[in-house]
Amino acid sequence: AAYDIQVVTIFPEYLAPLRQSLLGKAAERGLVSIGVHDLRQWTDDVHRTVDDSPYGGGPGMVMKPEPWAQALEAVRPPGRRLVVPTPAGRPFTQRMAAEWAAEPGLVFACGRYEGIDQRVADWAADAGPVSEVSIGDYVLAGGESAVLVMVEAVTRLLPGVVGNRESVEFDSHADGLLEGPSYTRPASWRGHEVPPVLLSGDHAAIERWRRAESLRRTAERRPDLLAALPEGALDDAEVAA
Ligand code: ADE
Repeated sequence: AAYDIQVVTIFPEYLAPLRQSLLGKAAERGLVSIGVHDLRQWTDDVHRTVDDSPYGGGPGMVMKPEPWAQALEAVRPPGRRLVVPTPAGRPFTQRMAAEWAAEPGLVFACGRYEGIDQRVADWAADAGPVSEVSIGDYVLAGGESAVLVMVEAVTRLLPGVVGNRESVEFDSHADGLLEGPSYTRPASWRGHEVPPVLLSGDHAAIERWRRAESLRRTAERRPDLLAALPEGALDDAEVAA
């Protein structure tokens, strides 16, 4: 069966990119099915109200729980993971993307304003896993662009969506390290040369060089990733280098 993605938002047109390029093709080929739903269809007042002022005071508005409960009862199959993008969430990672890709699908609840009444996520946890996640340490206007990011990260891991399996397995982050630099023709360009080992035809030497570049770049740009590698992930020769 197709991987099933359902998104609830007050800005359905913001999710139009889900129908384009890699994802659009995956949908056409029956690998993924995508539903985008306007939260306001689950309001019952003439103003189609989805927000209200926060208890306890403070700036901004909070999304009301009732429309969300009705929306989730309509679009979330029993047991299906609910993902709630929020800057106050746990960090979204490649590992999460891989775990979610092994499930039958995902439901996304896009909050705007100052977020969704916390009781929605608390209540929703009775019906299946709920993940409140952040895509990075910055604040977006709402969860919609975060959903685009997470859907792209998850769907490219689904069997058949990306042509070349290896290009997924060797990605940055797949082994906890950043990927090193890539080069193509010409070998010499505006005074900059391709590293000679890549032209040597010595595949073992090329692999050693790539591993070293990967480690060098990770140490330089993301020392936090190196520190987080499991014990024994680096052999003695690499630690010395
Ligand atoms: N909504 C607002 N900011 C966000 C972030 N950084 N990650 C996920 N959802 C968000």
